[in-house]
Amino acid sequence: MCVKVFVNKIVKDLYILRIDDDEIVYFEGLWEIPEKITYNAYLLLSDDGCVLFDAWKARYLNELVEAINKVADIRDISHIVIHHMEPDHSGCVPGILSEADFKPEILAHPMSCQMLGTFYGVNAKVRPVHDGEEVNIAGRRLRFIYTSWLHWPETIFTHYLDGGVLFTGDVFGGYSMPLSIFDDDEKLIQEYLPHVRKYFATVIGTYRQHVLQAIQKLTNTDFGVIAPAHGLVWRKNPKRIIDYYSSLANGHPEEGKIAIIYCSMYGESLKAARFVAEELEKSGLKTVMHGFTDISRTNLSDLLSELIDSEAIIFSAPTYESDIHPTAHWIAELVSKKIPSNKSIIIMSSYGWSEVTGKKLSMQFKGAGFEVKDIITFKGRFEEKTAERVRESVNKILTSKSQ
Ligand code: FEO
Repeated sequence: MCVKVFVNKIVKDLYILRIDDDEIVYFEGLWEIPEKITYNAYLLLSDDGCVLFDAWKARYLNELVEAINKVADIRDISHIVIHHMEPDHSGCVPGILSEADFKPEILAHPMSCQMLGTFYGVNAKVRPVHDGEEVNIAGRRLRFIYTSWLHWPETIFTHYLDGGVLFTGDVFGGYSMPLSIFDDDEKLIQEYLPHVRKYFATVIGTYRQHVLQAIQKLTNTDFGVIAPAHGLVWRKNPKRIIDYYSSLANGHPEEGKIAIIYCSMYGESLKAARFVAEELEKSGLKTVMHGFTDISRTNLSDLLSELIDSEAIIFSAPTYESDIHPTAHWIAELVSKKIPSNKSIIIMSSYGWSEVTGKKLSMQFKGAGFEVKDIITFKGRFEEKTAERVRESVNKILTSKSQ
């Protein structure tokens, strides 16, 4: 195993401990991330005890102990702050507790304190913290802010007041292993932001309203650095990542971008998808296509990422056993949960004998708040009369854009 580890100073006495997990393939056992991910922990030093903020996945315990010992003695850790209990950040905590000679006190949401027992069987010294509570540890002032559902119910942020640093856990993070620790380089940021969008769509998307609430809650919090648990640390312009998250949470669309999703068993739904793409492009719109066929399939994570900043969605899917094709069904459920509903949808559905998919998909999307602009169903093959219906639908998109 040869993973990359960074130990870098963030502000006086505060270090990031970052590991680049280049072994991961599916984040949460689900999302395809060829760009990989980092886990960021932070260590605050003082002569009277050190504070560790979060940890790494359990399998990287040895690397984390080594990283800590580069700037401190692990036995000097007097406190561990857990921002939420997902094991990509808490996995090494039991190992750290067993390494340290005297047992660090855990500061966390009351629910996290309980979860330490249920997840790891750890009987640790815990100190549940309250929303807005300020504590002084070895002369360092820490204030805790509840940010439920970002990304688990017991999530907190920590504001390190003396250093002007806000630790935000998953929020304001992103996938990939950026070449730098900080947001200093514009080119690097441009490369990084699509990975943030993908991370948001897959991991945070369901909780987008909570993101907006958390941003609102930060209004009177004075910090100069955002230190998330994944990806870049924002010190040059922390407002930029806050604004970007806000834009994603609001589903702010890229002008003229239309996402096309297709599931196709024998090619007709694909044919319909390609036709609508050509018609949209003729009208000067930008299309992105993601599909599932008998010979290839897109990454679900990329598909969701492309939807979040699209203006409209075209969904082309066949009927299967007198119901929605299972893949299309799964995607529709994910879209309904994770994607802001301020996008119109056109459904195209092929069938052999049971014309149900269009109606069922429409009910699914309408139930999630999307506007279904049109349902085009066709029996058997995709032919000219359906093509004409597609042209009418494209006109509906164009008309609504010009209004
Ligand atoms: Fe990066 Fe919700 O854990």
